[in-house]
Amino acid sequence: MLFDYIGDIHLDFWVKLEHSPAKMRKKIYDFVQSILPEHPSDTLFVAGDFGHYNQQSYWFIFYLKEVYETIFFVCGNHDYYLGSKTMKKKYHSSNGRANAFIDEVTQMEGVHRLDGNVHEHKGMRIGGADMWYDFSHALRYEGFTQRAIQELWWNEFNDRKFHEGLLPTLEHSDVEKEKVRDMVCDIFISHVPPLQIPLKGNYATERGELGFYLFDPADIFTKGHPRVWIAGHFHQHINEEVEGIRYLVNSIGYKTKEHTIPSRIQTFDMDELEHTQ
Ligand SMILES: [Fe+2]
Repeated sequence: MLFDYIGDIHLDFWVKLEHSPAKMRKKIYDFVQSILPEHPSDTLFVAGDFGHYNQQSYWFIFYLKEVYETIFFVCGNHDYYLGSKTMKKKYHSSNGRANAFIDEVTQMEGVHRLDGNVHEHKGMRIGGADMWYDFSHALRYEGFTQRAIQELWWNEFNDRKFHEGLLPTLEHSDVEKEKVRDMVCDIFISHVPPLQIPLKGNYATERGELGFYLFDPADIFTKGHPRVWIAGHFHQHINEEVEGIRYLVNSIGYKTKEHTIPSRIQTFDMDELEHTQ
């Protein structure tokens, strides 16, 4: 089975929020064309962080759906942001915003949000959930106390500032883990990656950032782990196997002065894993 994957689109960094919906749709259409692979497969995984505006995220999926028969996605922390008073008034809470988006896009046939459920698709079991960081890296490897890491997160990181009405971080993480406990699947997708993901660079030196953004997956896949784990959150590109799990990350990330061309959607062939079967 072939599938395509992408994540961390952060669409509002690439396409301005226009007053004219038609103008914005055209720009999103062009953006989608610019990231399509030469020969798309029929299945796409999106690892969350579409962007800060539902009206953009919706059209992103809409135009991808013209190409892909099936789209599986999870939401990222940015898909829960309420960045303005207007948004707070409109959606009331982070979940209100995320649910509005999910309800709208899943009305398109073949578009599925993974939230602790498993789909049978082309002979594969597809599972997923957003997942959430639990500070485990900072506590275990970076010498932080629970209190110190929570204070740092509370004082300095945007998730706390732009989320409204979500559970406290550690409880949120427990809820996400509970959703996937005992899950059996071949391909798993989450926005936040597990501790074992082979990240590039030493994030541990940067104010404990790794500790914020990973979670300890021990005791989740008690009946066997997935063969492929697609994730995002870190703006990196990873295609690497660690202890029988192939980790795939293909993040577009923020547009900056240095980063002006978005990464294209990548294709992966499950047959590449045959040697591990
Ligand atoms: Fe993220």
